[in-house]
Amino acid sequence: MTEDLNQMRDHMLTAIAAASGLDALDACRVEALGKQGTITALLKTLGKMTPEERLVQGPQIQGLREAVANGIAERKATLERAALDARLASETLDMTLPADATPAGTIHPVSQVMDELAEIFADLGFAVATGPEIETDWHNFTALNIPETHPARAMHDTFYLQQGIDAKTAGTADEKTTFSLLRTHTSPVQIRTMLSQKPPIRIIAPGRTYRSDSDATHTPMFHQVEGLVIDKGITLGHLKWTLETFVKAFFERDDIVLRLRPSYFPFTEPSVEIDVGYTLVKGKRVVGGAEPDGWLEILGSGMVHRKVIEACGLDPDEWQGFAFGCGIDRLAMLKYGMDDLRPFFDGDIRWLKHYGFSSLDVPTLSGGVGA
Ligand code: PHE
Repeated sequence: MTEDLNQMRDHMLTAIAAASGLDALDACRVEALGKQGTITALLKTLGKMTPEERLVQGPQIQGLREAVANGIAERKATLERAALDARLASETLDMTLPADATPAGTIHPVSQVMDELAEIFADLGFAVATGPEIETDWHNFTALNIPETHPARAMHDTFYLQQGIDAKTAGTADEKTTFSLLRTHTSPVQIRTMLSQKPPIRIIAPGRTYRSDSDATHTPMFHQVEGLVIDKGITLGHLKWTLETFVKAFFERDDIVLRLRPSYFPFTEPSVEIDVGYTLVKGKRVVGGAEPDGWLEILGSGMVHRKVIEACGLDPDEWQGFAFGCGIDRLAMLKYGMDDLRPFFDGDIRWLKHYGFSSLDVPTLSGGVGA
């Protein structure tokens, strides 16, 4: 019997090794291990044996089954590898051929303005910081001196994202749902930066922001750039000089007049709204001119509130600073002359062709930050 099994094994393994393709190999498998297969039939005989016979024959038949199954698996791997090698050898890709279609896209004005801002502020010693678009309540509001009951929360038209059930109240009568949110401004990056970096700090943070708001001048997703300076002995004078230098560099003219208006933000004290003077050129408002015809509001700013500095674990008697926040889409509209915000997010290639920028035109201060 043992002899027979050995012979059967050798015979099967030879057939397996000779299988020239996956189909032939599968035929071997069916013949040996399939429902009507030789080895399957042998396994069935085990049930009718006496326990003594089974003790001897069982391991031998199982050994045969295992040897054949292993042989098939090995051969299968070899055949598959060979098939892949053949395919790789026959499929070639010539990377030196010219493209049969040139990309139609251009740099979006928002990306262009972000690059311009980074370039201008790098020259003033500012690094670029980022933060998540999905924020916690604490970073977006509480740490910025906007407690839960503050009316500014309602003003921000926040998109809330349900997160789960508050663990402490779960299962009780006052079970509370917890939320994260889409950041309503880039100001939470102020908090994240102060928490993760030791002052002195000089950063700008450009990025996407969200509010449930939509008309010709508001889109639910828009862009802001945040600026933050934390150091010793920082005053409103530093803020004014920095913003003046930035606006002149951005609009590429020296005859820029800024107007500072007292305002209110919970996270700055005092707070200042900044307007830039425009002159009318053929009925169109153009930023600049020593004697402005009117004013356009361009950003909010102020001295960082003591409570915000404290919330970040710094001593407000030691560290002061200023912050500003500015809509990037609006800056782009003012500089490049678009009068509707909505096409910014339509993805219309004709609009991009008109207002977009070449990817080869990298803004530099020496070459001009404009187009
Ligand atoms: N975060 C404010 C807004 O979105 C702008 C701002 C930023 C004002 C920093 C002051 C200081 O309206």
